[in-house]
Amino acid sequence: MRVVNLRDFEDVAREKLDPVFYDYFASGAQDEVTVAANEAAYRRLALVPRILRGAGLPSLATRVLGCAASMPVMLAPTAFHRLAWPSEGEAATARAARDAGVIMIAAMLSTITVEEIAAAGGTLWFQLYVQPDRGFTESLVRRAEAAGCRALVVTVDSPALGRNERGDRNDFHDLPPGVFCANLRGDGWSNGHVRQVVLSPEISWSHVEWLREVTRLPILLKGVLHPEDARLAVENGVDGLIVSNHGGRQLDTTPASIDRLPVIADAVAGRVPLIVDGGVRRGTDVVKALALGASAVAIGRPVLWGLAADGSEGVAAVLALLRREIENALTLCGAASAGDLGRDQVVRQGMP
Ligand code: FNR
Repeated sequence: MRVVNLRDFEDVAREKLDPVFYDYFASGAQDEVTVAANEAAYRRLALVPRILRGAGLPSLATRVLGCAASMPVMLAPTAFHRLAWPSEGEAATARAARDAGVIMIAAMLSTITVEEIAAAGGTLWFQLYVQPDRGFTESLVRRAEAAGCRALVVTVDSPALGRNERGDRNDFHDLPPGVFCANLRGDGWSNGHVRQVVLSPEISWSHVEWLREVTRLPILLKGVLHPEDARLAVENGVDGLIVSNHGGRQLDTTPASIDRLPVIADAVAGRVPLIVDGGVRRGTDVVKALALGASAVAIGRPVLWGLAADGSEGVAAVLALLRREIENALTLCGAASAGDLGRDQVVRQGMP
């Protein structure tokens, strides 16, 4: 099959993957209402182009929290890349991100260590699930810093694990032999002990305050949907927000993330950069997010589909396709860059 867009990559990946792993990547919580809503919401938004602006070819390069990126697309943190590409896992993803000049957010639950991911040499941020054991959490932060990660992304939408029913039906509760959370492995390879990640409902703003003291890295909160939380985050010294519902994998029936972006942008009023993820599949989706106030978007599943299809080259192809689509959409909108887009260029389909 000829692959011409991001959705085609999902078809290729579905063919290649163990169906249980495909379900793990594709699925969401319970009825997967939010999974569907994320993509549907972009379709309900319409782009209003401006004309005759003589904008020339658009420039996609940007900076987010001091990090240069060749386009406003990041790799969202996703766990267990060796389920998609067993030989290399996250190393293959990291090479593609480096070559494309985009920021990769390395997941704490990666299947190779953060040091091994960083060896690719691209721009890396580190995603953290704060662990009730503060000493252990701090040791992860120190490792991320030492590996050269440039920001800390604290996932805050996971006080418990979402209820994944496809996983239950497939009885998928353990990683296959030889695949494990490499960052959680105890000292020394000999004992083979891997810590369990703890998703704790006790995590609170006090942990964010504590992290603020523990590290000088910029801190982003990932999984913000309520404008009041966005306001609190800024007051608590957070440097950036990821407007996200975890790709519909945590609380089912949350709103589509793109539909929350405008209210959160209003609450934050430009004080910190916003990133949005969930359902971004087209260059037009990216342009809509930028027009509504995002500094960048992040993509989760499309990266996994590219990785499963063809390793590093598959991820590279996903990023190249998306780049071309963003350039095309910006040009057709009459914009020379994201900064040229106005919020008035996005309306609800069917509304004047
Ligand atoms: C995720 N996501 C995620 N987020 C996070 O903070 N830590 C994690 O370990 C994971 N793991 C993970 C695994 C898989 C298989 C998926 C699909 C997602 C959520 C991810 O960062 C992001 O929010 C969503 O994937 C964005 O939605 P799309 O682009 O997949 O629609």
